[in-house]
Amino acid sequence: MRVIAIDGPAGSGKSTVARALAGHLGLQYLDTGAMYRSVAFAVLRSGGDPDDGEATAAVARTVELEIGLDRVIVDGVDATVEIRGPQVSQAVSVVAANPEVRAELVSRQREWVNLRGGGVLEGRDIGTVVFPDAELKIYLTADPAERARRRAKEVTDLDYEAVAADLARRDTIDSTRAADPLTEAADAVVVDTTGMTIDEVVAAIATLLGESSGGGS
Ligand code: DC
Repeated sequence: MRVIAIDGPAGSGKSTVARALAGHLGLQYLDTGAMYRSVAFAVLRSGGDPDDGEATAAVARTVELEIGLDRVIVDGVDATVEIRGPQVSQAVSVVAANPEVRAELVSRQREWVNLRGGGVLEGRDIGTVVFPDAELKIYLTADPAERARRRAKEVTDLDYEAVAADLARRDTIDSTRAADPLTEAADAVVVDTTGMTIDEVVAAIATLLGESSGGGS
């Protein structure tokens, strides 16, 4: 079974790189951050409080998730846009710090891979917790100002300063939480994407896998 783990902080280029790599390798791609965001969305939609750990865990265990390449459906509702919005972005860190939510989503992620016989997974704990035996573990980083610039381009309703502040807040919560904090696996290859294009990053990873990236297309 071929599993490639791509971890790293927000704005490091994980999603774009993981998608391109999956296409290149003929594997399917799973955005695990979208799963945590979807649980946060389901809690907010039901009028719940994300800080209520028990109720949030219960939502995680029962929510129906369809995490597609271009669409995310939560309990039958299209949440593609909302899961990237400020309310979910604000609530998701506390949801992702909940150990019971993590246990449930990690088990769904393993099931997803088993059903497909492999995949490219991106997140924060793929190489450390979800698939410690992955064929290749990449830890993507970039300097905080570049990560904030990339995120600010993706969102239309927030300016650079607000995006930079939100990224710094989430970096701190994600890397200091007790349950599976964001950290590099001991055997991960660290790729600093500051100043690199997507094609260059994908080519570098393909080389690590012993493959060519097909001329950077
Ligand atoms: O990658 P993202 O910004 O969409 O992730 C959303 C949140 O979920 C972020 O706070 C980190 C968390 N997350 C996590 O804890 N573990 C993962 N495997 C993926 C995301």
